[in-house]
Amino acid sequence: MKLHVVILAAGQGKRMCSSLPKVLHCVAAKSLLQHVLDTSSRLNAFKTSIVYGQQGDLLQQSVLNSAIVWIHQAATLGTGHALMQAIKHDALPDCSHVLVLYGDVPLVSYSSLKKMLEQAQQGAELVVLTAKVPDPYGFGRIIRNAAGFLQAIVEERDANEAERQISEINSGLMLCSLSLLQQCLPLLSANNAQGEYYLTDVIRLAHERGTKLSTVTVKDAMEVQGVNDRFQLSIVERYYQLCQARALMQIGVTLADPNRIDIRGRLTAAEDVFIDINCIFEGEVQLASGVTIGSNCQIKNSSIAKNVTIHANTMLDGAIIDAEAVIGPFARLRPETYVAEAAQVGNFVELKKTRLGKASKANHLSYLGDAIIGEKVNIGAGVITCNYDGVAKHATIIEDEAFIGSNSQLVAPVIIGEKTTVGAGSTITENTPANTLTLARAKQISISGWSRPIKKL
Ligand code: UD1
Ligand code: CA
Repeated sequence: MKLHVVILAAGQGKRMCSSLPKVLHCVAAKSLLQHVLDTSSRLNAFKTSIVYGQQGDLLQQSVLNSAIVWIHQAATLGTGHALMQAIKHDALPDCSHVLVLYGDVPLVSYSSLKKMLEQAQQGAELVVLTAKVPDPYGFGRIIRNAAGFLQAIVEERDANEAERQISEINSGLMLCSLSLLQQCLPLLSANNAQGEYYLTDVIRLAHERGTKLSTVTVKDAMEVQGVNDRFQLSIVERYYQLCQARALMQIGVTLADPNRIDIRGRLTAAEDVFIDINCIFEGEVQLASGVTIGSNCQIKNSSIAKNVTIHANTMLDGAIIDAEAVIGPFARLRPETYVAEAAQVGNFVELKKTRLGKASKANHLSYLGDAIIGEKVNIGAGVITCNYDGVAKHATIIEDEAFIGSNSQLVAPVIIGEKTTVGAGSTITENTPANTLTLARAKQISISGWSRPIKKL
C-alpha cells in the first residue's frame, strides 16, 4: 500500500488564547504536531503532508522530520476542503491510500493506525477510527445501518434528537483510497449548519456508491482526545504521563505515586528502581537497577549507575554518576560532571564540568567547577574552586587522598598534591606539594586586656 499521510493542522485554535499555533503547544515537552509525526513516521508512508493555516514558518522550524510536504490552506473552509488541498496533485499509482490525521490529536496509537491499514488491505475502501464515549456532545456521530455497518457521520449541529443519543463518535481520523477521495471530494457542498466542506460527508457519498466501509474503534477514548483548550491539553498531558508511569512500573520500577511523575523525554530504567513523588525527568535519562531517587528531583540528560541514591531536591543536568554514589539532598550537578563509584555529594554542593573521584566526598556547601578530583579526597564544608578570572575558566586538580579544610578557596589554575592537607580557611594560590600541610591564612593572635568599644549615651 502506497500511503499518503495528511495531517490537518490549519485550524486556528482560538480557544487556546495563544500567539503560538495550537499544534505547537506541548505534551511532555514535545509539540502536539511532533507527537503525531513520530507515530505516523512508523508507518513508513510514501509521502507525508501537513495542511497549515497561519504561521507556517514557525511550524516548519519546529518539525524535526525532513521531506514533509507543506500545504497552505489560506481559508479554513472545513476538513473536506483541507484534504482536497493536500491531494489535489496526487496521481494514482503514486499513492493508493490517504490517511487523515489531526495535528491536535496527539496520542493516537501506532497499533490503531496499523489496524486501520489492515482493514484497507482486506478490501475496505474507507476506514474510520471511532470511539465510544460517555459524553458525545460536540462530536460527529457514527451512523450504522441495521446490520451494524457504517453508513454516515452526522455532525452535532446537523444531528437530530435520535442521532444525538449515539455515543459512538468520529475521531476525525480516517483512511481512504485515493480514488474514492478523488471521486467524492469534488462532490462535497458547504450546505450545512457550519457552512463548511465536511470530510465526513465522504462517508455518506461512499455508502451511496455501495463502497465497502469499515471502522476501527479505539479501546481507550483518550487515544483520540483532541486538544482545543488548555484544560484539554492538561488532560492529555496527565493521561500521557500516567501511561509512561504504568510502563515503568511494568518493568520493575516502584513509583511512590504514579500520578506525580513527569517524564519529558525518554527515561529508561532497570529493575528495583524507586522514585519518590514529584520528580521530573527531561531528555535522555538512564537509571540502573537499585537506584533510589528522593522527592522533588529534576534530572535531565543524565546516566545513573547501580544502587546510587539521589536524595530529595537534587538537580542533575548532563551528569554521569557511577555505582553506589550518594547525591544530595539539595545538590546541583551541572553538565559534564562525573561522580565516580561510591563518591558523595551532599547538600548545597554545586558541581560543574568536574570529576569527583572514587570514594571522594564533598558533603556540604561547596562549588567545584572545572576540577579534576582524585580518589578518597575530602572536600570540607564551604570549599570553593575559584575557576573564573573574569575572562577565562581555569582548572583545579586535586590529587588522591588530599584533604581540603573547610572554607578554603582554591584559586585556579592550581594543583593540590597527593595527600596534601589544606588548613581550614586557606586561600590557595600556588600548587601544594604532596604529603604536606599547607596553610594560607593570617596567623591567629590573642590580645589580652582588650576591651570592646562602649556606646556613649
Ligand atoms: C471534526 C469532525 C467530527 C469529529 C471531530 C473530532 C468534520 C466535519 N467533523 O469536527 O466528525 O467528531 O472532528 O474532533 O470533519 N482543519 C483544517 N482545515 C479546516 C478545518 C479543520 O486543517 O478548514 C483541521 C483542524 O486544524 C483540526 C481538524 O482539522 O486539526 C479538525 O477540525 P475541527 O474544526 O476541530 O473539527 P470539528 O468541527 O471538531
Ligand atoms: Ca476539534
